[in-house]
Amino acid sequence: MKSEAKGSSKSESSQHASLPELKLELSKGRAEETKADVLVVFATKKVESKKAGKGDKKSSPSAKAVVDGARAEISNEVQRLLGGGADEATASSFSGGAGESLFFRQQSLGAARHLLVIGLGETKSFEVETLRQAAAHIMSQLKAQKCKSATVNLDTVPHTSIPGDAWMQALVEGLHMSAYQFAEFKAADKSSAVEKINLVSSTRPKSLEKGLHAGEVIAEAVNFARFLGDMPGNRMTPTLLGEQAQKVAKGTKLKVSVWDKAKIKQEKMGSFLSVSLGSSQEPKFIVMEYKGAASSKKPIVFVGKGLTFDSGGISIKPSAGMEEMKYDMCGGAAVIATLAAIAKLKLKVNAVGLVPATENMPGPSANKPGDIVIARNGKSIEVNNTDAEGRLILNDALCYACELDPAVILDAATLTGAMAVALGNLHTGYFTRHDKLATKIATAAGATGEWVWRMPLTDFHAKDMKGTYADLSNISSGKGAGSATAAAFLEQFVEKEIPWAHFDIAGTAWHTGDRWPYNPRKGASGVMVRTFVQFAMNE
Ligand code: BES
Ligand code: ZN
Ligand code: ZN
Repeated sequence: MKSEAKGSSKSESSQHASLPELKLELSKGRAEETKADVLVVFATKKVESKKAGKGDKKSSPSAKAVVDGARAEISNEVQRLLGGGADEATASSFSGGAGESLFFRQQSLGAARHLLVIGLGETKSFEVETLRQAAAHIMSQLKAQKCKSATVNLDTVPHTSIPGDAWMQALVEGLHMSAYQFAEFKAADKSSAVEKINLVSSTRPKSLEKGLHAGEVIAEAVNFARFLGDMPGNRMTPTLLGEQAQKVAKGTKLKVSVWDKAKIKQEKMGSFLSVSLGSSQEPKFIVMEYKGAASSKKPIVFVGKGLTFDSGGISIKPSAGMEEMKYDMCGGAAVIATLAAIAKLKLKVNAVGLVPATENMPGPSANKPGDIVIARNGKSIEVNNTDAEGRLILNDALCYACELDPAVILDAATLTGAMAVALGNLHTGYFTRHDKLATKIATAAGATGEWVWRMPLTDFHAKDMKGTYADLSNISSGKGAGSATAAAFLEQFVEKEIPWAHFDIAGTAWHTGDRWPYNPRKGASGVMVRTFVQFAMNE
């Protein structure tokens, strides 16, 4: 019997219980002496300078190589190991480009049976993301070749100005994120599960250990967020989501409280409460607190939409694709996972995670179009479309966030289909009126490989959200800009002087594997966890 909601502790974080977890081990030594199925080395793309004069291009054979483009730069050590094989490598179409790889079977190179050469592209364009993606290519080759173990020769990572901890973290993130499989309700394919990767360096500086630790904690958090997102609505109800937050906090300095319906009512979260009334599942308000700095330091408050299933309510969604609305809690999952990672990394910050969690169902007590509800800050809202429910639960959470005297509020939500129309599954759109905060967000996201794009938020959008019979309407009176008007609605619940940014992850929270090789092709991506943790690291 598989099934009880699992997924928080290290041993069961991201995998089905019967799937062995990928183990990474960093050691000092000679890679080819470390026993494993495969030895992995990196090669860069060598672009030869064009020395040939005008007109020589067609006639000279060496110029031909130039025209052909690049040749792989394979280290001397690997050349030696390969013997004749190196010629095969250079003569083949392999040029060391990013995404290229060569698998040599039965080479009996030292302690490994096979050899895998992974292209990284040109050294001058090498960045941490290169290794994150190269890690995904390692994992897909190992899976395809049914290899259980590998040794990665870290000495073949190009020497650049990028510090060891940074590239090591990215490599480790890439490996663990690529190992993720959601096999909770299916017999797992153990034959292709990679079990162990040795990361071997001849020097093993302290920075590599630091990168390994950060990479493991962050990737584990990403995989945990994916797991929460991938779980179906009946197995990840608000109650179970709250239990997951409590479970992941065990052994850390995180304090978790899960408010029940009575407390939510008592706290005057009338807007949030109204969304839950059409469901038989009790709503929960998840509060995660982490104190890693002096109490005088203002906290970073993360808020995530925890809609464990969005049917649309009385304004019901079309059936085609409705099953995807189990992912409507991916913002909440990202927040829970972010807090877990911040605590495990023992960051010297104060942070709070808030997740309003509920279903949106069309039961007999559900919100009806035209109903008026009152939010925690006293603002009245006409519910003109019950499917625009995300903003009706986030608003109360944002009011509460403001009461915590935060340094900054960041929220993540699968808020609008319009966001996916505008930016597809490449960029997460974010909204803020605070330029300094926008710069910090761009810096954090830039380091993690998550693509974000700043979107407009103006007084015009806010005007479109005014109500006829109440202060606000939950849908816009204008045409278009559905994501911006949703952001403008949320803004009505954030105090002006508090730096706040809203991330609409509707396009990026799932099915992004066609863009990022370390993300699942189908299923939750765990987006924003890396950027949120990086943001906290930079504070
Ligand atoms: N959860 C949806 C947004 C969504 C849609 C996310 C598709 C990912 C993919 C949200 O609650 C919603 O239904 N929003 C409405 C708002 C509209 C009624 C103003 C939408 O986007 O259609
Ligand atoms: Zn909806
Ligand atoms: Zn929704």
